[in-house]
Amino acid sequence: MEQSTATRPHRGDELTVKIDTLAHGGAGVARHNGYVLFVAGGIPGDTVRVAVGKAKRAYAEARTLEVLQPSPDRIAPLADHPGAPWQVIPYARQLEIKQQQVDDSLRRIGRLDGFTLEPIVAAVEQWRYRNKLEYSFGRDTDGRLICGFHAPGRWEEIVEVRDCMLASEAGNRAREEVVEWCRAQGLEPYDRRSGQGFLRNLVVREGRRTGELQVRLVTSPGRLDGESLAGALSGAPGLLWTRLESLGETTMGGQTELLAGAERLEEELGGLRVSISGEAFFQTNTEMAEQLYALAIEYAQLRGFERVYDLFCGIGTIGLLMAPRAAELWGLEIVEDAIADAIRNARRNEIDNARFFAGDVRLVLRELVERAGRPDVLVVDPPRAGLSQKVVRRVIEAAPKRIVYVSCNPTTLAPNAAQLVEAGYELTKVRPVDMFPQTPHVECVAQLERRAAS
Ligand SMILES: C[S@@+](CC[C@H](N)C(=O)[O-])C[C@H]1O[C@@H](n2cnc3c(N)ncnc32)[C@H](O)[C@@H]1O
Repeated sequence: MEQSTATRPHRGDELTVKIDTLAHGGAGVARHNGYVLFVAGGIPGDTVRVAVGKAKRAYAEARTLEVLQPSPDRIAPLADHPGAPWQVIPYARQLEIKQQQVDDSLRRIGRLDGFTLEPIVAAVEQWRYRNKLEYSFGRDTDGRLICGFHAPGRWEEIVEVRDCMLASEAGNRAREEVVEWCRAQGLEPYDRRSGQGFLRNLVVREGRRTGELQVRLVTSPGRLDGESLAGALSGAPGLLWTRLESLGETTMGGQTELLAGAERLEEELGGLRVSISGEAFFQTNTEMAEQLYALAIEYAQLRGFERVYDLFCGIGTIGLLMAPRAAELWGLEIVEDAIADAIRNARRNEIDNARFFAGDVRLVLRELVERAGRPDVLVVDPPRAGLSQKVVRRVIEAAPKRIVYVSCNPTTLAPNAAQLVEAGYELTKVRPVDMFPQTPHVECVAQLERRAAS
């Protein structure tokens, strides 16, 4: 039945609601006169006062203003951190919810059945697990330069962070040193409303095993005394400066210059020594990436004679860990710097049966099959949007015996897996991995086997 506009909440309304469940993506779900509200900051069992944001015909987004009656599940938060919205849910419960959400996606969105759902792999560290943090510059109410995160739901407002509990102490120190230096230089933050100002973002990356740091300052075009900034940082991190012309909130693109130290960050993972370029993707939880990759290797069931494809390979980590267990490895990735890293990483780890190519999977997978031959095992690790229909069709054409799907979003894994099942594959097993404690994000690895022709 269509909701009448008289009872439908509108942007700016304040309401009191009770949260029933959690949606994918982490918002609390509440109902107001049958109308669905996705409430940021609410967990099941809470009664909250909310402000309504974007409102559609069937649902609206809302933000918690006050928790009037807390859920019996709620625990005290450890850190004032917009990047850790689930910290009020006990960790064991977070794991249960993630396990349930993966199951729910596969069954309800993908209409899949008959697979084994293995128990979620819990995180090694529940805090300070990120090897990369992207901060934004802004001003506090006194006009002082600050560095932190966007306030939830407010793109133009920055909340200062003093001790980011998702970063290591060394990463926090690097951020504080940069901010102190910027204040001493009198540099202005970028104003997201007017597009004026200089300092935009600060990206701090850390080699968790090597102890190396990489600091990348992202600004609008202008002047910067790189030598002075390098001198203000302890521990001689790699220092990069990216100048961006665009108005959007991004740290990608633009012109990047090395100001001091090493251009690439060094890390160790699963016995590999790898170097990572400034803009190449690298899993943000090193310790859990090792577990994710170990699971991908287990699900690949390699016996040594296989031709393996690693699609969306980044700097080649999954493929390089699989190559010694296979006959040959072919990696494909769109970011050229990441492919240069993958080739370098193969050489320095003395892996000589791996080849890497830069290209869009959508456009060049067919060509790869013509050149390399059909894969026995095909690994995909796409971004959150999952595989496009066209890529799924190309994968089906490539006809691997086994597909290992590494997914950072079960709601896109589900329809992709359903298409593959429709085309003759069986979804055999799936295992969630908790890479991001205190957040709603969940990764998982799925295994699909080609059914024998009857
Ligand atoms: C989730 S990351 C996985 C990277 C790598 N497997 C790892 O574990 O570090 C997804 C990767 O897909 C790449 N990518 C995105 N779209 C692509 C496309 N159309 N073709 C090839 N690579 C793409 C991104 O640059 C990114 O490196």
